Amino acid sequence: MKSLIVTGGASGLGRAIAKRASQEGFRVGILDVNVDALEETVSTITNSVALVASVTSAEEISAAIAAFGQTPDVWVNNAGIVRFAPLLALSIEDWRSVVEVNLTGTFICSTIVAKAMADRGSGSIVNITSINGISAGTNSGAYGATKSAISLLTQQMSLEWGNLGLRVNSLAPGLIDGGMSEPIYSEPEFRKLRTEKVPLGRLGAEEDIAEAVLFLGSDKASYITGHELVVDGGIINSIIANLPRPSNVDSVGLDEN
Ligand SMILES: NC(=O)c1ccc[n+]([C@@H]2O[C@H](COP(=O)([O-])OP(=O)(O)OC[C@H]3O[C@@H](n4cnc5c(N)ncnc54)[C@H](O)[C@@H]3O)[C@@H](O)[C@H]2O)c1
Repeated sequence: MKSLIVTGGASGLGRAIAKRASQEGFRVGILDVNVDALEETVSTITNSVALVASVTSAEEISAAIAAFGQTPDVWVNNAGIVRFAPLLALSIEDWRSVVEVNLTGTFICSTIVAKAMADRGSGSIVNITSINGISAGTNSGAYGATKSAISLLTQQMSLEWGNLGLRVNSLAPGLIDGGMSEPIYSEPEFRKLRTEKVPLGRLGAEEDIAEAVLFLGSDKASYITGHELVVDGGIINSIIANLPRPSNVDSVGLDEN
């Protein structure tokens, strides 16, 4: 039986990834710092194990893998936090906590599990980034910087660990109806405004992300590594479409013919 560990799995996208993995027949380790949410989530997902640990602690991550009892086939770095503030108002403390959980946490977990995967000669790591790591967003400077850095770290890991039998990819969700974005989309006005911007005409579901994570983690993606899969209904490629053009401007430049 294949196995998967997802960090930050007690809620939101991580919980959806754990649920989908369980449905696919994986034994699932759900790792989180939020003990109450973790217990509740594990109680609803078949063949899952609660792993209480912070991604910021190498000792806790090593202990969690030991408690799981096997090196997982797939590791998903999903735990993440956001602190919204313009850069000039962002405290160093908030900057550090976002960098620590999102970026350093991904480094700690990946390097620990990669050593164990390398001993076995196979494994797949999926890092959850964000379209905010591709394009700057409102008051999200610390968050976006960490997500962009995780994309590059993904490339670096794929470069260094390919010959150990490991694949490492990242997945950038767009506007997702759930998880940390719940407070945004529970406001009808913002929900409508944002939904209208998505070329596919809807917000992403947590299950859209879970399905794509399982694909990247699986043997179906056996020749894909160092890649960032954007799962966003097309919004990141539609920025210019949001800039109106006068209707009488239908062509520019001289016609020489
Ligand atoms: N929801 C979205 O719209 C969206 C969009 C793009 C990217 N993402 C990314 O998806 C991932 C999951 O986010 P979500 O929306 O499900 O958020 P969420 O807040 O629902 O879940 C995050 C989980 O991470 C856990 N966590 C926080 N710090 C931790 C730590 N130090 N160690 C272990 N666990 C920790 C939390 O307890 C929580 O259960 C994040 O990396 C986020 O940046 C989310």
